[in-house]
Amino acid sequence: EKGGYDYFMLKEIAEQPKAVADTLLGRIDLAGNLCLDEVRIPASVLREVTKVVIVACGTAYHAGMIAKYAIEHWTRIPCETELASEFRYRDPILDQRTLVIAISQSGETMDTLMALRHAREQGAKVLAICNTNGSTIPRESDAVLYTHAGPEVAVASTKAFLTQLVACYLVALYLGQVRGTKWGDEILSVIRELSEIATQVDEVLETMEPVRELARTLADKNTVLFLGRHVGFPVALEGALKLKELAYMHAEGFAAGELKHGPIALIEQDVPVVVVVPSPRGRSVLHDKIVSNIQEIRARGARTIVIAERGDASVAPYADHLIEIPVTPTLLQPLVATVPLQVFACELATARGNEVDQPRNLAKSVTVE
Ligand code: F6R
Repeated sequence: EKGGYDYFMLKEIAEQPKAVADTLLGRIDLAGNLCLDEVRIPASVLREVTKVVIVACGTAYHAGMIAKYAIEHWTRIPCETELASEFRYRDPILDQRTLVIAISQSGETMDTLMALRHAREQGAKVLAICNTNGSTIPRESDAVLYTHAGPEVAVASTKAFLTQLVACYLVALYLGQVRGTKWGDEILSVIRELSEIATQVDEVLETMEPVRELARTLADKNTVLFLGRHVGFPVALEGALKLKELAYMHAEGFAAGELKHGPIALIEQDVPVVVVVPSPRGRSVLHDKIVSNIQEIRARGARTIVIAERGDASVAPYADHLIEIPVTPTLLQPLVATVPLQVFACELATARGNEVDQPRNLAKSVTVE
């Protein structure tokens, strides 16, 4: 049942191109428009939405953080992403024109369920993004967009995360499409690029041997830090979460711009720092700022592990280890940038003799608050 792999997690990492393609299947028509009629929230209602609020936990929360960048950029609707466990205890402001998106692989996470119940009590419409047919969260929502990752057995979420991202992009682009924002052309071109993305995830998987080798050399480290900006920031958080839960190592993700406000004090000789570099095209200011962050930490002795777009020559001189990923639109980069971090964490866990599919103290779905 592990299909020749040692662990379910390895199998599920390898299944990601298919999971991504399956989640897109039938949702983009031949003319390159999105067809999400299955969501069954009328376009007239979506046009009236004044605020989007995303609630989720753990890895699904990281997908939601990335969705915020996409939704605000493509739709110009204010969007906030909040941990489901924090959400309802702070008396959030919601009304009939708020669209709440609850993201959950299992559809049974109690914190997320309680958050969506609270949102519906306040009159908000709730759209679930879920991987499990007929589970509680979609049953209790107004609408659902299923991810088609197939069953995820390993406790650490991998293919479900990538498909959650795909579903979030679809929702963001669809909102942009029905509301007709000024980004119409960009939306069409991103839809096209999204249809190619499964192939690019596959390309990343083909080049992971050096990442595994690198991971094995770090098995005796105590700490690994992760830095990113813009959508690379949630990717950094996700890389750190995978490492904590699988390798039981201290790992932290930071927004690279925050380094100088404190975390740079953690940089000492040989501490591994993984940096997710945004594309040098598009929002190039971000790219240049992160390159100077890499220089700063390297000058203080950090061992830099740099994830950058193929052909980005500017980072090579400061990278002790360079991991190249395919060229994608900025907002889609998390789909390819997360994969090396999953492989990295899985290999480190193995090197440290940990149980990959069943990390200590964790359960696949958390049905208590
Ligand atoms: C991390 C992980 C957890 C889940 C979280 C939410 O690898 O798997 O952080 O993402 O417990 O679970 P779902 O998506 O089922 O609501």
